Amino acid sequence: MADIESFLKDLKMLEIHLPYSVKLIFELKSRFNLKQIHLKELLEIIRADNSEAEIMRAFIYEKIKEYLNACTDCPLHLSDSCTQKVPGEGCLNSPLMLIGEGPGFDEDKLGRPFVGRAGQLLTTILNKLDINRQKVYISNVVKCRPPMNRTPYARETKACSRNLELELTFIAPKVIIALGSVPLNYFKPGSSIMRERGKWIYTRDIWIMPTFHPAYILRQQGKALNKTKWDVWDDFNKALNKVRELCPEYSFN
Ligand code: URA
Repeated sequence: MADIESFLKDLKMLEIHLPYSVKLIFELKSRFNLKQIHLKELLEIIRADNSEAEIMRAFIYEKIKEYLNACTDCPLHLSDSCTQKVPGEGCLNSPLMLIGEGPGFDEDKLGRPFVGRAGQLLTTILNKLDINRQKVYISNVVKCRPPMNRTPYARETKACSRNLELELTFIAPKVIIALGSVPLNYFKPGSSIMRERGKWIYTRDIWIMPTFHPAYILRQQGKALNKTKWDVWDDFNKALNKVRELCPEYSFN
């Protein structure tokens, strides 16, 4: 333990910024005395259905929050619009991850993702699919609320990728639902949500289903509203079917 701590301190002094996932791998191995060196083996241990794995998952989630709270990689955390950072939440074992753009007013106030109007709609969609929200992992590309809820700048998205990549490493989802243009462009830069929604992207061994952001649904009216709802419904069903195909044993209830 002391060895790892002093090694991490040395790196800090040398201003070497390890990716958070690497830092956490070191900390996990040290804390739980794990001999396994490969990430794949580590992930298997973490996913196991036993109390030790549960303690490890709780440790990982605490670290996700700790690194995020200490993050000063972009100026968003200094903005008046950001009163606190908003980490992802949910089940660290879930094969399905949902990724939005960034916290809005309600999320900033409560420190939880997707709890405002758009979040309530998202929860309704999940419930209609018989998915318990707590059995998926929900996060955002940026974790600090941008001023006036503007779209995060590319440099903010890039800076915050350390946090999202940490979540991606340890949750290791099989399927991601990318909610809107920002998460779509995170995985496939230069994309249009209008053109790409409903079409699979396969990258890094993850199936990504881009769909409209729930806030976009809320802005539609009349026929457009009806069509958008059905499009999103189809996209969520495709994602759910893919999870069932890849992880038939996983229960969302
Ligand atoms: N919109 C997002 O993209 N994320 C949230 O957490 C809330 C609204």
